[in-house]
Amino acid sequence: MLGQKVLLLGVTGSIAIYKAVDLASKLTQRGALVDVVMTQSATRFVTPLSFRSVTHRQVYKDMWDEPVELEIEHISLAERANMVVIAPATANMIAKLATGIADDLLSCIVLATKAPVLLAPAMNVNMYENHVTQDNLAKLRARGFKIIEPGTGILACGATGAGRLADMEQIMATIVETLETPQDLTGQHIVITAGGTQEPIDPVRHISNRSSGKMGYALAQAARDRGAEVSLISGPVNLPGPAGVRVLCVQTALQMKDAVMQAVRNADALIMAAAVADYRPAEAAASKIKKEDQAEKFLHLVRNPDIISEVKEEVLKVGFAAESEDLLENAISKIQSKGLDFIVANDITSNDSGFDVDNNRVTLIDRQGSREDLPLMSKLDVAHRILDRVVALLATRELGN
Ligand code: CTP
Repeated sequence: MLGQKVLLLGVTGSIAIYKAVDLASKLTQRGALVDVVMTQSATRFVTPLSFRSVTHRQVYKDMWDEPVELEIEHISLAERANMVVIAPATANMIAKLATGIADDLLSCIVLATKAPVLLAPAMNVNMYENHVTQDNLAKLRARGFKIIEPGTGILACGATGAGRLADMEQIMATIVETLETPQDLTGQHIVITAGGTQEPIDPVRHISNRSSGKMGYALAQAARDRGAEVSLISGPVNLPGPAGVRVLCVQTALQMKDAVMQAVRNADALIMAAAVADYRPAEAAASKIKKEDQAEKFLHLVRNPDIISEVKEEVLKVGFAAESEDLLENAISKIQSKGLDFIVANDITSNDSGFDVDNNRVTLIDRQGSREDLPLMSKLDVAHRILDRVVALLATRELGN
């Protein structure tokens, strides 16, 4: 049962919309309160009355209709939704959401909501396979939108291929799974760092490392989905900022330190997934160093501050230890020396986990030395396992206070 969860069902102009009436009906039967929002073109296929008849609730279709409530409608709809589902989602709506266009009620709601958003695309196969649509979907996916791949078969236009609205069963299962994600970080402010830092040598060169930022970004997404307010402090990476997360972009370790010190003042937990450069050139040359300048003379390095060790606020501190040898001993000694609550240790010598891949195999070790070896899993799953510990430790802290 979806007991009184508010589900905002957005429907757009695709022939598959008739299946959305059935979806609205099934969700209502399972106890959800379904707010249907129709685009103008959706109303060409079915009438609002069809949805109202199965949801027994008001159907919304225009920014400029006389509002049903006194609040600003697109904001109140966005705020009260536990989840937004757009099924069917046309190529046009997907493109609008990917670029932040908000020119109708549904696109405004998606821009304003902090709830998880699920898209079920339905369109002609060529439109679906077009690079523009695929790029837009990739962008949205990276921002934390869930996308249910369309099915393959005979499409309404007569063509055969991918583009059919996914199975209702699959859409329902994804909705249930999303709504069942515990909101156990509601009211908590979590600061997460991600990516590597870059330490300039001159205007064209820097010292850096292989961190892609994927683990930190997955943590930010997972914490957001569990209801946390998230500040993500990121080194230069190739990933779009997750929706609903405050992203602060920095380049150097010193900039990251300043951003962390500022953010932890009102935070409950700090998770340092960033690979901070331990050293920086003592001085970055103002102009490009030429071969003839004897470059070796310029690389005098100085130590960067250890950011997590310098955080003295009463926040839960979680560190990472990427090691190529003596994994456990090194990780345990970092817990002590950096004053951490627990550490996430990973062996970076294996090819299937660690740097720049989507999976990770980690060991969680706490102050008491107890360890939990997790199997190879996606970085998003690892993120949830780390957050399970954060939730438990925050709860014991609250009990202690
Ligand atoms: N860290 C930090 N500031 C630094 C270096 C590391 O806050 N200047 C944090 C990392 O974000 C990570 C943890 O400390 O959470 C361990 O980082 P790691 O690079 O494994 O450890 P180091 O202390 O740099 O030790 P070493 O490089 O010698 O293994």
